[in-house]
Amino acid sequence: MATSSYLLQGPRVALRRVGREDHAELSVLQRESAEMLRRWLGTREMTVEAFEGSLERFEQPTRKGFVICLRDTGAIVGGVNINNIVRGSLQCGTLGYTSYASTTGRGYMTEGLGLVLQFALDQLELHRLEANIQPDNTASLNLVKRLGFQREGYSAAFQFINDEWRDHERWAVTAEAVRKTNHPIVR
Ligand SMILES: CC(C)(COP(=O)(O)OP(=O)(O)OC[C@H]1O[C@@H](n2cnc3c(N)ncnc32)[C@H](O)[C@@H]1OP(=O)(O)O)[C@@H](O)C(=O)NCCC(=O)NCCS
Repeated sequence: MATSSYLLQGPRVALRRVGREDHAELSVLQRESAEMLRRWLGTREMTVEAFEGSLERFEQPTRKGFVICLRDTGAIVGGVNINNIVRGSLQCGTLGYTSYASTTGRGYMTEGLGLVLQFALDQLELHRLEANIQPDNTASLNLVKRLGFQREGYSAAFQFINDEWRDHERWAVTAEAVRKTNHPIVR
């Protein structure tokens, strides 16, 4: 993938939109990470049909899909979606994100999600981004805390994952708060 398709770049990673050509690479990453992802996201098979369906949904104004790539090699190290985008007087969206077994624990997601925040606030003109996180998903909680999100509440039985309605903490960040953080990627 040409670097000209990058929307934003940080010191180590770059952000671009997910595309049809990413299916093979994402399938391998998802397969190698099945155990890690199952606990928090449930079991998901990335068939061509399912992938193409999600690409179609990313064409709609309510959703955007991105991949985070290593600047050195272009390899995908993470994925981020902005879902449920609401315009008008709210200008908000809900984040979904994942790293993979071979890419986690290296700071790529902090940098990459920081780029997503920057793009969402500057280019998509969103004002608020939310993340709903299971209370024992420590890695995800640490990630949003590093990026200046605040805990806003607790939703019992919020999402059906692995055959149960799971409680989630509700975290969010606003444009004002992001601009106050000292994170090197996020202004
Ligand atoms: C949530 C998730 C994306 C977080 O990813 P992550 O790999 O922890 O995040 P980063 O890539 O930013 O890595 C940060 C970790 O790398 C460590 N790290 C190692 N080398 C680093 C470096 N050079 N620079 C920065 N951090 C580094 C950090 O200390 C940090 O670990 P800590 O949180 O234990 O302190 C990942 O755990 C995941 O995909 N989980 C499964 C799916 C999921 O839960 N999605 C979210 C649902 S709400």
